[in-house]
Amino acid sequence: MAVTILLLLLLLALIWGGSARRGGAPWGGALHLLHPGGPRHLHILARTYGDPLCLRLGGCEVVVLSSAAAIREALARRWGDFVGRPHSYLASLVSRGGQDLALGDASPEWRRQRGATRGALARAVRHLEPLLELQGWALCQELSSYGAAPVDLFEAFTFHTCSTICRLAFGDLMPPEAEVRSFTRCVVELLEVWGRASVRALDVLPSLRVLPNAGLRELLRLVERRDAFVESQIRWHQVGNVGTQGCASPPRDTVLGALLGGDPTVPMGPLGGDRLHMALVDLFIGGTETTAVALLWAVAFLLHHPQVQDQVRAELRQVLGPRGTPKPGDMGRLPLLRATVTETLRLRPPAPLALPHCARRHSSIAGIPVPAGSIVIPNLFAAHHDPKIWDRPDEFLPERFLQPGAPWRALLPFGCGARSCVGEALARAELFVFLGHILQRFRLEPPSDGALPHLGVTAGTVLRCAPFRVRLTPCPPP
Ligand code: HEM
Repeated sequence: MAVTILLLLLLLALIWGGSARRGGAPWGGALHLLHPGGPRHLHILARTYGDPLCLRLGGCEVVVLSSAAAIREALARRWGDFVGRPHSYLASLVSRGGQDLALGDASPEWRRQRGATRGALARAVRHLEPLLELQGWALCQELSSYGAAPVDLFEAFTFHTCSTICRLAFGDLMPPEAEVRSFTRCVVELLEVWGRASVRALDVLPSLRVLPNAGLRELLRLVERRDAFVESQIRWHQVGNVGTQGCASPPRDTVLGALLGGDPTVPMGPLGGDRLHMALVDLFIGGTETTAVALLWAVAFLLHHPQVQDQVRAELRQVLGPRGTPKPGDMGRLPLLRATVTETLRLRPPAPLALPHCARRHSSIAGIPVPAGSIVIPNLFAAHHDPKIWDRPDEFLPERFLQPGAPWRALLPFGCGARSCVGEALARAELFVFLGHILQRFRLEPPSDGALPHLGVTAGTVLRCAPFRVRLTPCPPP
């Protein structure tokens, strides 16, 4: 406890009194980045003091972008200036010294890692339709097993999003279910521990690193577990398991098989060593909880708006009939289901502050000079709530995306430019198919006390919703 208080006091001492520009917050500087209101707090600040908002963090400038125009200007139009990632002590510890796709700075090795991973994922995603059909069915079977009892869906959703990545990455050499469940818990805990203030403080105050830190010990233990799982899968693919599971090793149409060189058409491959290891890690860390919380937010909003549930279910019945199930290619035929997913990503982008970027040279955004080395934070949440772009920005209105002229370009849940999310197509397909399967099979209802989910926003790398329970009542056949 005493250590925590000391940490906080030191942190305050370092950043208190930092100033802010273009408007400029009156005091507090980068302390605002630790505010429990997270992206919403920064959004309110930007509306008061202007966009971009410049805060100071120790000796470094932090530029927060709060409109789609400023975010596109920096990350897409001037991508070469802002493609970097800031150096961080913690990121280096969890990524084998920065050999990481998501956290690594832009270098020739990183470019190759990103190109190969995107290529391998794009090829594996070609087999997505049967895979998501199977995974959507398995998810609904698990949900059916809960019966009428109110349940928290977080664990089921994270397990099935993680399993989807496992199937894409390893194909028929997929590890047993118990191992995948345990790995899923490891991935979720890792992000939770990393997000703790007592752990994040180590990035800001190097002097704290000499003190014992229980959170850091836990983080390193989780990194070891994560790495043991990924290493064993790579070995399993490499040693030649022809015959044991009736498939060639490595299977060429899996992400891992392609990255190991099984598919020579994948550009920039093969990968090896730490770059291969960290690329796989990133698919799991980047794609498990983000996609699962988006599904949870969709369920939370649909509990508040049962009429939208009924309309989506009616659309599914009308278009697919009694036996059809939604496929990734059906997005044009099921516009309301697609709009429901899109509106959820607008209101609650799972990575609300994306990942921090770093200015590689002196540049500017919206006419504001940005010195080399500045940290740039895209506030996607703020851009999605910009009243100049979105009518009634705080309301859940999927139908806004059915109207001609809807502001699609202002929607950036996956970022944009050279560091945009490599899993966007996969995540969109999963959300569409899984939510469609769930709404076909179940009516989502609050527990018997009528308690509806809390829709508040908190700080964190991933925008989690407060735990809630839902009753899944089977829909009668049409
Ligand atoms: C709803 C689900 C998802 C959302 C909202 C999301 C959002 C994002 C965002 C905002 C970024 C940062 C962009 C930036 O730096 O400006 C990102 C990066 C990334 N995402 Fe996703 N993501 C999702 C799912 C996935 C999936 C399924 C995967 C892979 C299986 C994935 C892998 C990655 C990776 C590897 C990066 C780092 C890219 C780089 O630094 O070059 N994400 N994602």
